[in-house]
Amino acid sequence: MTSDVTSLFHPGQHLLRELDFTGEEWRDLLELSAQLKAAKEEHREVQYMRGLNIALLFAKTSTRTRCSFEVAAADQGAHTVYLDPSGSQMGHKESVEDTARVLGRIFDGIEYRGDLQDHVDTLAARSGVPVFNGLTDDWHPTQMLADTLTMREHSHGRPDGEISYAYVGDARFNTGRSLLVNGAILGMDVRIVAPRALWPAEDVIAAARGRAAESGARITVTEDTAAVEGADFVHTDIWVSMGEPKEVWAQRIELLHDYRVDEDLMALAGPEAKFMHCLPAYHDLGTEVGRRIHERFGLEGIEVSDEVFEGPRSIVFDQAANRMPTIKAAMVSALGRV
Ligand code: CP
Ligand code: NVA
Repeated sequence: MTSDVTSLFHPGQHLLRELDFTGEEWRDLLELSAQLKAAKEEHREVQYMRGLNIALLFAKTSTRTRCSFEVAAADQGAHTVYLDPSGSQMGHKESVEDTARVLGRIFDGIEYRGDLQDHVDTLAARSGVPVFNGLTDDWHPTQMLADTLTMREHSHGRPDGEISYAYVGDARFNTGRSLLVNGAILGMDVRIVAPRALWPAEDVIAAARGRAAESGARITVTEDTAAVEGADFVHTDIWVSMGEPKEVWAQRIELLHDYRVDEDLMALAGPEAKFMHCLPAYHDLGTEVGRRIHERFGLEGIEVSDEVFEGPRSIVFDQAANRMPTIKAAMVSALGRV
């Protein structure tokens, strides 16, 4: 690795939400992600986190995020301790403030996944060590780094300003909000396509428009699925997120059935458009929820059809693979030392 890598370190920086970052800082994280990914692939990775200890505090379940933090830390010579949804005192017997002050004295960094953004913000404010948001109801910033690295890799060297993407589905939650803001920061063409009841909150749309004014991004928020036309990438996410009651499925399906990503919607986007999904996805009958929704509503594949998910335009597993080098970059940037 060259010394260029260390110029991308931002010691002590938290990763709580995309809006905390300047465009330059966000691009630095993406650049470091690409460099660390190439270094591992070429068997020349340098360890910048030797001897560090990272707490992985998960109040919600995870496959990709947890594994990415663990593998990234191991690659970098750091050690992790995983605390599962029932495995710590936080929230049961101990406040977030107290947990922060304890973990900050034991660990060099903390990852947190849970519902409230206030929890991850409090960990950052009270622990004294860098904190990484592994998903809250409001934001999913590590996912945005992976999504953007993947879009760049599939854009044949085109600059961010020439990349367009649509997000179709439940846009009021973490993934939809984060995709709106991410593209706004990077100067991309972002189209949020959802029924009005599931649009991002007004303040989030306003913040995205503010960042777009600085970056040159084009922001569209619409109910009209025709807005996907010409988009390079079509993203979606599950319609009922972790922590939501299963009773909302019927209402959500009624609101979103015209926003399902199927071959017709991909045809509307155009022949070159690629399909993306943060995963996990309900695309077939391989899950309990998928089977239950199929029995009740007749849908086989909920937010995305199996044909699109398994088809040649789908780049979802490239996207999932990029969780690891991007999470590695977030940790190395904040904690790395030569
Ligand atoms: N996309 C994502 O965050 O996946 P996990 O829930 O498996 O971590
Ligand atoms: N919106 C989804 C994202 C999962 C990675 C959820 O919060 O469950």
